[in-house]
Amino acid sequence: MRKPAEPAMAAIAVAICFFAVAGAARAADPQDGYRLAKQWCSSCHIVAPGQSGSDAAPPFESIANGPNFTEDSIRAWLADPHPPMPDLHLSRDEVDWIVAYLRSLQRK
Ligand code: HEC
Repeated sequence: MRKPAEPAMAAIAVAICFFAVAGAARAADPQDGYRLAKQWCSSCHIVAPGQSGSDAAPPFESIANGPNFTEDSIRAWLADPHPPMPDLHLSRDEVDWIVAYLRSLQRK
């Protein structure tokens, strides 16, 4: 009963490779954006509908449903925010996640 372990290990290794590749290729996930927003943005912005907190900055739900919301305007803002908002130096992936999350907040 010892031998069959090897094919099983090989199958597990193949499965791990498959999920690693699939993970890298998947589209930006709003859940990643939400996690990031909670960590980096929630000290100033209300990042989720129904959440209470500081009103020092516009809530994400208002931003996502604002008349000027476009993906490009968010990307441009995050690449070069104006004071009092700090430049958080987000990576391209992180900006994609935030954009995906903001899109998920749009009521339509
Ligand atoms: C230190 C406080 C602070 C943090 C942290 C912060 N922001 Fe802001 N943010 C602001 C303020 C204040 C404004 C409003 C600036 C203005 O209108 O002049 C703003 C504005 C914005 C706007 C533009 C809103 C509009 O009406 O066009 C976006 C988009 C935005 N923030 C996204 C983010 C994201 C995403 C994060 C986290 C990665 C973040 N902010 C973190 C303070 C902050």
